[in-house]
Amino acid sequence: MQSLVIEGGTRLRGSLRVNGSKNAALPIMAAALLADGPSLIHDIPDLQDIRSQIELLEKLGVHISRREDGSRTFEVKSETDSHAPYDIVRKMRASICVLGPLLAKRGKVRVSMPGGCAIGDRPVDIHLKGLRALGAKIHLDAGDIIAEAKKLHGTEIFLGGNFGSTVLGTANVMSAATLAHGVTTIESAACEPEVVDLAEYLIAMGAKITGHGTPRIRIEGVTSLHGAEHRIIPDRIEAGTFMVAAAISNGELRLENVRIDHLLAAVEKLREVGVDVEKADRSVIVSSARVLEPTTITTQPHPGFPTDLQAQFMTLLAIAAGNSIVTEKIFPDRFLHVAELSRLGARLHREGSTVIIEGQKRLVGAPVMASDLRASAALVLAGLAARGRTTVNRVYHIDRGYENIEQRLNSVGANIRRVEQAELD
Ligand code: EPU
Repeated sequence: MQSLVIEGGTRLRGSLRVNGSKNAALPIMAAALLADGPSLIHDIPDLQDIRSQIELLEKLGVHISRREDGSRTFEVKSETDSHAPYDIVRKMRASICVLGPLLAKRGKVRVSMPGGCAIGDRPVDIHLKGLRALGAKIHLDAGDIIAEAKKLHGTEIFLGGNFGSTVLGTANVMSAATLAHGVTTIESAACEPEVVDLAEYLIAMGAKITGHGTPRIRIEGVTSLHGAEHRIIPDRIEAGTFMVAAAISNGELRLENVRIDHLLAAVEKLREVGVDVEKADRSVIVSSARVLEPTTITTQPHPGFPTDLQAQFMTLLAIAAGNSIVTEKIFPDRFLHVAELSRLGARLHREGSTVIIEGQKRLVGAPVMASDLRASAALVLAGLAARGRTTVNRVYHIDRGYENIEQRLNSVGANIRRVEQAELD
């Protein structure tokens, strides 16, 4: 197992390119299962979760090749295997997004039911409700979801749940409805940019979709879809993480390939605490004078503040001059970083789904344990700001969502080494 050893206190300065979005790429790759003919997809990041998705799609009969410029082609060569087994799904919950495409295209699918993960129970009941509404017969067998339908039929579907809309649930139902007979209207659809990107890819494949990016998506079914060329949107969560890196290190970063319109809630909060964010073409310049004001943050579905940036912003607020409040409304238990940040001297008090943060002058380096992807990113950020050495253990979590994180941060002045755990013992 590997760890990151961070010598804190250096200022980050320079320029970084933000990669294509992991969470846009995963359902888009799954949607390639719907096409007759090849698709060419640009800017898929090179990450562990993407490699898991490739492994799954190859098992499902998709031929995938990588071009010199990093783009990838996807072409379905065989439709005989429609089983997403536990071994792959347990590594990556997002493999659930093959459910809708396989059902619509092949009429029968078996996908292992994803379990909970470090950030919560994460049920998929709303995905199944939506697919049932389209006419699928669904049952559970030996931990697998089995869904069948000779032909799906368009209908009106309400996809809201107790925690708002569902991103991958919307992706599954929207993808399936593209090949249904008639018109489907999804109400309370997720409005996240990743859902919009998927819709754009599906439209390029010949799907008839309107309303994506709003809570009401209308899909008029077509009889077939063809392959298409598509470029994945920039990763707004990676961009937000690097923005916090600039702010927390009292530095200045120019971030290339950023869609600031996807990040308005986060940018608003950065400005509120005293961080400068300047827009320039498709890039932003983020700089900080380090005297940070406290604030309140509540995570919400898009366009509200994203849950995937909650841990990173909590880290920033840990060194603000005053008390802040962070409330998590999407995954009420997504607080594994709290105990680890406390080891670095952060003063955090959790009450249910709210954390009160007593800002401290400084954090002090210590060994900490990564628990999930975004919590790990938060610990790396904390390590950048902390005095002395921070060792983030179990760093494989961060590799699921950030490509070469230490090399990229080192290129703008960080001091991070990747070591084998054994070297530390
Ligand atoms: N929910 C249900 N039933 C369902 C589906 C969701 O109750 O059938 C609940 C969830 O438990 C949660 C809320 O609805 O409380 C929203 O969950 P959502 O379905 O939107 O999450 P997701 O689609 O499984 C994606 C991202 C997550 C991100 C969330 C929220 C991907 C691959 N994952 O998950 O990203 O946190 O949306 O924005 O797109 C990450 O990248 O670190 C990550 C966890």
